[in-house]
Amino acid sequence: MNEQALSPQDQRKLQAAQAAADYVATRIDNKSIVGVGTGSTTNFFIDALAELASKFDACVASSVASAERLEGHGIRVLDLNAVDEVTVYVDGADEVDKHNNLIKGGGGALTREKIVAASAREFVCIVDESKLVDLLGEFPLPVEVIPMARGLVARALRDMGGIPELRTDFTTDNGNIILDVRGMTVTDPKGLEAAINNLVGVVCCGVFSEQKPQRVYIAGADGVILRD
Ligand code: A5P
Repeated sequence: MNEQALSPQDQRKLQAAQAAADYVATRIDNKSIVGVGTGSTTNFFIDALAELASKFDACVASSVASAERLEGHGIRVLDLNAVDEVTVYVDGADEVDKHNNLIKGGGGALTREKIVAASAREFVCIVDESKLVDLLGEFPLPVEVIPMARGLVARALRDMGGIPELRTDFTTDNGNIILDVRGMTVTDPKGLEAAINNLVGVVCCGVFSEQKPQRVYIAGADGVILRD
C-alpha cells in the first residue's frame, strides 16, 4: 500500500494495524485462530493479516463486513462455535481511557466484538491517538437493544442521566437496534457496563471494561507506542 496516498489519520491507523500484525506474528502457529474486529482501523489489520495467512489456521470475525473482507483475501473464516479458543483478538475502538477501558460500537458490531474478545486468550486494540481520552463518554455510548424494548430501555437510560437516540436506518448483524447515548460521563466503567447490561431488553453495551484489551497500540505523530 502507498502510505503517502493516505490521510495522516489513515496513516496512523495503518501503523497501529501493522504493529499489531507484527505482534500477532509472534503469537500464532498453524493451529491458531485469529479473532478480527470491525471498522476502518481493523480493515488495515485485515489487509496486513493477509501477509500472514499461511502461518495460522483460520479467523473468526465480529461482523459480516469483516468476514467478507477476510474471505476476499482468501482467509478462511469460521463460526465462533466451531472453535475452542481464539488465540488473539485484534480490534479498534472509539475511545480509550488511560486504564485501557474502551467505548466501542461506532460501527454497530459491539455485541459480536465483545463475544469474540471474551473468547480470546488475548485482546489487542489498535487506535490512532485521536481516540485517547481522560474519561470515557464524549463519544455517544452505543447500546444494542431488542427492538420491542426500545422505549423501556430508553426510559431507563434517561433515568441514569443519559440522552439516548435511536441510530436511524440501522439494524445490527443480530437483527437489533442501537441506542446511542450522550451525556454519560463514565467515572466507573465496570459499574456502568454492568448496570446497563442488566437492563431488561439490553443485549450489550459499548463499554469494554470487563473485556478490556491487554495491549493497546497507539499511533501518533511520533510513531506507535504500546500501552499494556
Ligand atoms: C465497531 O462496532 C466499532 O467498535 C469499531 O471498532 C470502532 O468504531 C472503531 O472504528 P474505526 O477503526 O473505524 O474508528
